[in-house]
Amino acid sequence: MNPSLVNRIRAGGGPPAHVAVIMDGNGRWAGRRGRRREYGHRAGVLALRDVVSAALEVRLPVLTVFAFSDENWRRPPAEVTSLMSLLELHLRREVPELKRRGVCARVLGRTRRLPPRVRWAITLLERETRQGKAMRLNFALSYGARREMARAARRLAREVADGRLDPEGIDEGRFAAHLYTEGLPDPELLIRTSGEHRLSNFLLWQTAHARIRVSPLLWPDFSGKAFLEMILDDQLRAGGNPPVSAA
Ligand code: IPE
Ligand code: IPE
Ligand code: MG
Repeated sequence: MNPSLVNRIRAGGGPPAHVAVIMDGNGRWAGRRGRRREYGHRAGVLALRDVVSAALEVRLPVLTVFAFSDENWRRPPAEVTSLMSLLELHLRREVPELKRRGVCARVLGRTRRLPPRVRWAITLLERETRQGKAMRLNFALSYGARREMARAARRLAREVADGRLDPEGIDEGRFAAHLYTEGLPDPELLIRTSGEHRLSNFLLWQTAHARIRVSPLLWPDFSGKAFLEMILDDQLRAGGNPPVSAA
């Protein structure tokens, strides 16, 4: 798709181990066109597809995208309903292509809260792509970092109460093993679109050492090319500045 960008990233040592993306700005994009927010969300799906394709092209090992937050449940019911339909459609429609390209897709979040049709689409997606080796693609869906951490604490407490864990044995690694991202490297790069400098309760634990890049583009205007440009820019700037390790 963008051979020169891809080659430059590869020549510079390859992409980061994990990139996380806050896909923001769909509503504003639609508003500027005098359309309803749903129109922006539909356009956003196309941008996501292009970014996933670029990520595969550059052989990114892990990509996590924020698709729907715990807080987003408080949006007007009509918007939530249409987002759920859109998510269901997208997750179903992408299965063959993701499978063909060797993607292992997973959903991170409180899926129990999602409508049954969306949950079923997730089950199929995860089952069908389970063997994917080219890239891990995480959809953060009905996701909130604080709740994720409270859940980890609850699980550890249960292990202690059951006598399976000594409280002194609780360290960072043990805690991280109870997060949805268990077993994955932390994101080295966090991208947010639409110019907002906010984390919005996304991957608070995992981004402890991440570099943050904000694009002024609204999400539907974002693209695989814009994504690769941000990775390259990050690579050039982070060159002499290796990430801090938690160890
Ligand atoms: C991001 O776009 C998509 C979701 C949160 C689902 P927004 O819907 O937040 O769009 P803005 O930020 O209002 O423009
Ligand atoms: C963050 O965007 C959540 C997603 C991209 C899914 P929001 O637009 O919901 O977050 P705020 O309102 O700017 O914090
Ligand atoms: Mg927003």
